[in-house]
Amino acid sequence: MISGKLSLQNLTVNLGKAEVLQNISFSLEKGRTLTVVGPSGCGKSTLLNVLSGIIKHYEGEIWMGETKLRNAGLTFGYMPQNMGLLPWKKVKDNILLPFRINKNSQVNKHELEDVLRKLELTELLNRYPSQLSGGQRQRVALARVFISHPDILLLDEPFSSLDTITADISRELFLDLRRKYQPTTIFTTHNLSEALKLGEHILLLDKQPATVLRFVKNPLFESEQQQVDAEFNHFKRQLIAWITEGDAKNRYS
Ligand SMILES: Nc1ncnc2c1ncn2[C@@H]1O[C@H](COP(=O)(O)OP(=O)(O)OP(=O)(O)O)[C@@H](O)[C@H]1O
Ligand SMILES: [Mg+2]
Repeated sequence: MISGKLSLQNLTVNLGKAEVLQNISFSLEKGRTLTVVGPSGCGKSTLLNVLSGIIKHYEGEIWMGETKLRNAGLTFGYMPQNMGLLPWKKVKDNILLPFRINKNSQVNKHELEDVLRKLELTELLNRYPSQLSGGQRQRVALARVFISHPDILLLDEPFSSLDTITADISRELFLDLRRKYQPTTIFTTHNLSEALKLGEHILLLDKQPATVLRFVKNPLFESEQQQVDAEFNHFKRQLIAWITEGDAKNRYS
């Protein structure tokens, strides 16, 4: 098994005529979670598309330890922003798709049942994606990525369409599975509280072309009762100040 850090070195991506990502560099230890925050359209999904291998043309290098990421033989679980469900497959077949593709892996039935129950999907297994609400589709995509135990987990605003209670249940499920399987996770969100609750590191991206505004270690990661902690709000204000500074710099430079 490949060890070491996931390292991006001067990643630059052009889409069409526009430069979307510019000289993005950071390192993340194996098994850690990075949350990515940045304004709409700055390039967060583009970053995940590069890491997942969907975007193949870029400048710069991506390493896992001493090996190029693409040659490291790692498994990937990607929940894209459009959720990536196949419209012609029923919910149950969409959820089990990673196991149909990778015949060497076997679903853990007990875990599958637990995930289906917690995400309230048991009644929906025979429907097609077109017969689901946006939040239901998001829960199907979550179930699929949660039960597949990839080495690299890429989640693009995974809880954005869920009501508060379901989003909290889904975050707890994510935390449980992360504790058990420790995937190296990159997770985009517009929700700063979520970024602070789930990320060991936080990457703040600037406006397009996105550059790294800050890459910070989250001092409150897994601290007890962090939501009620004054430090939590203090650090959240610090993040907002950095984002606002970056915004002012862009606007007036
Ligand atoms: N195939 C493409 N060709 C040209 N430009 C593109 C293409 N795909 C995305 N873009 C542009 O690249 C920029 C970054 O898009 P991206 O989807 O990565 O943003 P994002 O940070 O994920 O935004 P959001 O928070 O709204 O999801 C946007 O300006 C978008 O319009
Ligand atoms: Mg996006």
